[in-house]
Amino acid sequence: MAKCGISILKGIEATAVVDLLNRAYCDEWLAYYQYFIEAKVIKGLMKDAAIAELTLHAADELRHATLISNRIIQLGGIPILHPGNWLKHSNCGYDAPENPDVRTILGQAIKGEQCAISTYSNILEILRDRDIVTYDIVSQILADEVEHEEDLQSLFDDLKEFLEQFKL
Ligand SMILES: [Fe+2]
Ligand SMILES: [Fe+2]
Repeated sequence: MAKCGISILKGIEATAVVDLLNRAYCDEWLAYYQYFIEAKVIKGLMKDAAIAELTLHAADELRHATLISNRIIQLGGIPILHPGNWLKHSNCGYDAPENPDVRTILGQAIKGEQCAISTYSNILEILRDRDIVTYDIVSQILADEVEHEEDLQSLFDDLKEFLEQFKL
């Protein structure tokens, strides 16, 4: 554990930051798997464009899990070790793609991103002026989640417009 690195925290305990990060860590793994499996089971119009987007997002969520786990360890914590605890500790849960229709899957993915955006915004409120390093990492992740929502929403809107044109 890096003592000087931890000593720059102001008004918040490292354990409290680790707790926040561990919950987000669970979210990221669940989001990774949700995108991974959505890209496999999805069916319908424009599914190739959706698969490309979902696959890209899966890679981003895995990268977020890496960033978060590295920071947890820097703070002297231990990332959640058992996948069985991911659902229990997550903020946003997991939405199984039981209906493979491209519209349903995109809708679920958009909802997930909206939850991620509000979760990371709340974490930033807590960390502001207290833990500048984690704040910076979480800000980068939040910017990705905002981009994810936008990408999915524009794909969803294109699809909707296309279907309306042909009254499908
Ligand atoms: Fe993420
Ligand atoms: Fe995301």
